[in-house]
Amino acid sequence: MSIKSNVRKITTNTLQQMKQNGEKISMLTAYDFSLARIVDTAGIEVILVGDSASNVVAGHETTLPITLDQMIYHGASVVRGTSRALIVVDLPFGSYQGNSREALNSAIRIMKETGAHAVKLEGGAEIIDSVERIISAGIPVMGHLGLTPQSIYKFGTYTVRAKEEMEANKLLEDAKLLEKSGCFSIVLEKIPSKLANNVTSQLTIPTIGIGAGPSVDGQVLVLHDLLGITHEFNPRFLRRYLNLHDQISEAITKYVDDVKSLNFPNENESYN
Ligand code: KIV
Repeated sequence: MSIKSNVRKITTNTLQQMKQNGEKISMLTAYDFSLARIVDTAGIEVILVGDSASNVVAGHETTLPITLDQMIYHGASVVRGTSRALIVVDLPFGSYQGNSREALNSAIRIMKETGAHAVKLEGGAEIIDSVERIISAGIPVMGHLGLTPQSIYKFGTYTVRAKEEMEANKLLEDAKLLEKSGCFSIVLEKIPSKLANNVTSQLTIPTIGIGAGPSVDGQVLVLHDLLGITHEFNPRFLRRYLNLHDQISEAITKYVDDVKSLNFPNENESYN
C-alpha cells in the first residue's frame, strides 16, 4: 500500500459538506512538486494549478501564452507532490474556447496525463456547452467568473469587475447557469463583496473568492503572492504572509560573499 492511499483525501463532496457546515475552504495555487508538497502537508483543501504559472513561473505579462502541454507539465508535478488536497488544473487560453469537442479533448488530456481531479474554465453562458460536455464525460468542473484574466484584452484593465448593475446581474445569472450545468464550485475574482455575498447565498455549491470579500465559502491566493516572492504586485485584496523576495535575496547575497571569501565550504562541509 502506498503512503498516499493512507490519507483521507479531499473530494468535491468534502467541499460541498464544508459549505453546508459553514466551514471555510482554503485554496492556493502551486505549480511544482516541492511547493505542492509543502502546501498539501500544511493542510490546504484545494490546490489550483493555475494558469497564473504563465505570470509567476514563466514571466509572461498575461496568462494567455501558457500552453496545454505546459499546464500538463505543471499539473503532473503538483500531483506527484500531493497526498490529500483536491487538485484542480486550469484549462489554458485557446484550449476550450473553440468548441465543446476541443474543450472536452483538452480536459481529457489534463485528467489522463496529470492525474488531477478537476479542471477550471473561465466564463459563463458563452462556454456553457463546453462545461456541460466536460461534466457529462465525468470530469468535475470549477467555474471562474468576475475578473477572468484570459479575457484581459477584452476588459482592458485588471480593475474590479461587475460594479455596474447590468454586469452584476449577468454574473449572478452565469453563476446560476454554471451551478445548473453541474459545476462543483465557482471562483469569484475581484468583484464587490456585496455581490459575492449575494451570489454565495443563492448557490448551493461553494464559491471561492479572490478579492471578493469575506462572505464567500472559501478563499484562494496565488502562492507566490502570499509568500512575498512577487513583491511588486500589491492589489488591495492580497495579504502577504512572508517576504520571501527579501529573504531569498539576502541568503543568496550571503552565499556569494561566503564563496568569494572562502568561508564556504568549511572543513565540516568537505570530504577527507
Ligand atoms: O490562475 C490562477 O491562479 C487563478 C486564481 C487567481 C484563481 O485562476
